[in-house]
Amino acid sequence: MTLAIYPGSFDPVTNGHLDLVEQSAAVFDRVIVAVLQNPAKSPLFTVEERMHWLRHAVRRFANVEVDQFQGLLVDYARLRGADVIVRGVREVADFEAERRMAQMNRHLHPTLVTVFLPTHSQYAYISSSLVKEVASLGGDVRGLVPGEVAEALYARFAQRQPAEGSESKPRGPSGAG
Ligand code: PNS
Repeated sequence: MTLAIYPGSFDPVTNGHLDLVEQSAAVFDRVIVAVLQNPAKSPLFTVEERMHWLRHAVRRFANVEVDQFQGLLVDYARLRGADVIVRGVREVADFEAERRMAQMNRHLHPTLVTVFLPTHSQYAYISSSLVKEVASLGGDVRGLVPGEVAEALYARFAQRQPAEGSESKPRGPSGAG
């Protein structure tokens, strides 16, 4: 039984993340999608919101569960008895930072193996931070994230007061947000 952890901020989950979940579910016996709870990072969405959308999106995979963790990833991996950490690599630019993280994790937990999975090219440009930026400016993010996440993004940015001097509030592309 190989237990893999796919950790991340998932603020919010994107279709690129879900591609990685699908690949991991096919390769490993069990997969835990682990959402980092890091108050220092001031995420846009609460850990409960992020887990809710993930749970909904991965419900078709019988061997995938969603959990949260705080502190060091290696400590969470020990707690869960995981063998593997999965990280997605979208492009060469991701690789250096991911390699540093993998090497640090190996230093801290020598038997924990990090596996890099390439994101399918149609998702390679999608990141949570770009999706948030585009949604905050009223751009269309449907097709990049699950539908309910797109709606939540527009709703969240519509709640935010425009900065002083700005001319309009962010809206969804339909004008509904
Ligand atoms: O989705 P992200 O933000 O790229 O995920 C980064 C994450 C959560 C995998 C990484 O920040 C992490 O593992 N944080 C937990 C704290 C930790 O273990 N830090 C040392 C990593 S070498």
